[in-house]
Amino acid sequence: MKNAVSSFIGVAAVLLGTSAVTASAQTGQGDPKMGAQRAAMCSGCHGISGLRNAYPEVFHFPKIGNQHPEYIVAALQAYRSGERSHPTMRAIASSLTDQAMADLAAFYGQGGLRQSTAAGK
Ligand code: HEC
Repeated sequence: MKNAVSSFIGVAAVLLGTSAVTASAQTGQGDPKMGAQRAAMCSGCHGISGLRNAYPEVFHFPKIGNQHPEYIVAALQAYRSGERSHPTMRAIASSLTDQAMADLAAFYGQGGLRQSTAAGK
């Protein structure tokens, strides 16, 4: 199980690299379409259906779909600043730009998990 979890973190790290490259030049409003792409790196832990997690027995993964966008941004910023401490989320949040956080928040705040299911895969 430990291996499965660390390979998840490895996958997340690869995806994070990609999102840094695709990060949009302008900042401002979150774009749920960009958020949907970025969320690929979150869904492994936070669950694609929103109900099930890949490894519920290892960690408690909070459900973030349909969460208020402001709450998601605030939580990610708190992880990035170290105000909220969790090694995994801190590593993830510290590589996200403010724009990436806004995009993710827009996506999840819209109930993005349902959209990602509808998009197939
Ligand atoms: C490797 C697993 C993993 C990945 C990948 C991951 N998370 Fe998390 N996330 C967690 C865990 C575990 C927690 C609970 C941490 C805690 O107890 O503070 C959490 C907590 C959160 C919270 C706080 C939820 C709450 O109810 O307060 C938010 C928001 C969040 N994650 C967003 C994201 C986003 C957005 C991504 C993708 C960029 C992401 N996470 C990727 C494991 C992960």
